[in-house]
Amino acid sequence: MKSVIFDLDGVIVSTDDLHFMAWKSMADRNGIPFDRQINNLLRGVSRAESLEIILRKSEKSYSEQQKQELMQYKNDIYIKLLDNLKHSDILPGVMELINRLKKAGVKIAIGSSSKNTRKILQKIGLETVFDAIADGTEIQHSKPDPEVFLVAARKLETKPEDCVVVEDAVAGIEAAKAGNMTAIAVGDAASSSLADYRVNTMMQIAEVLNLE
Ligand code: BG6
Ligand code: MG
Repeated sequence: MKSVIFDLDGVIVSTDDLHFMAWKSMADRNGIPFDRQINNLLRGVSRAESLEIILRKSEKSYSEQQKQELMQYKNDIYIKLLDNLKHSDILPGVMELINRLKKAGVKIAIGSSSKNTRKILQKIGLETVFDAIADGTEIQHSKPDPEVFLVAARKLETKPEDCVVVEDAVAGIEAAKAGNMTAIAVGDAASSSLADYRVNTMMQIAEVLNLE
């Protein structure tokens, strides 16, 4: 293992509720049924694909133009909610793990489907901590396609087989394995049979990686 690639949403910081509130507002406004269970299906999935999943419950069909407007409406609300994010919202154990990885000379990156990655990192004060950032603005195919992780590996100048991915989404574990990387599952991703390791805390990742 030479490098660790972290997913952002749900691994570094929890944005599930913010996504939920923003999509819920869009759905209510358009009379589309939407609940937490559907929100869980959106983990790791791009904004456009998330909308498609939500619209499966709609009786109406929407033009491309209308879909763009629905995504814009959701993202405007989401961005306003992101404004309240701060350093203390970083999930427990993340800073300690990052510090230990840096001390051990392991390179670290972000591999996220989110087009708001840079904004989120800036809000939580981590915009300069990672050796590389690959996000939703740079890819054609979102997870479970491995593209975002392969972009991160290329930026880190690390071979995919020497990369370890930390993910909370089943689609993210699939993406890591499709990219020939080691996959560590946290939270919801533990249900994926493809995960190489399953952990409950960030410090367990230090154990899996055999850090000093
Ligand atoms: C992922 C989230 O990180 O980013 C998904 O897990 C989200 O829920 C996706 O849909 C895209 O986010 P954004 O910020 O580009 O709308
Ligand atoms: Mg995630």
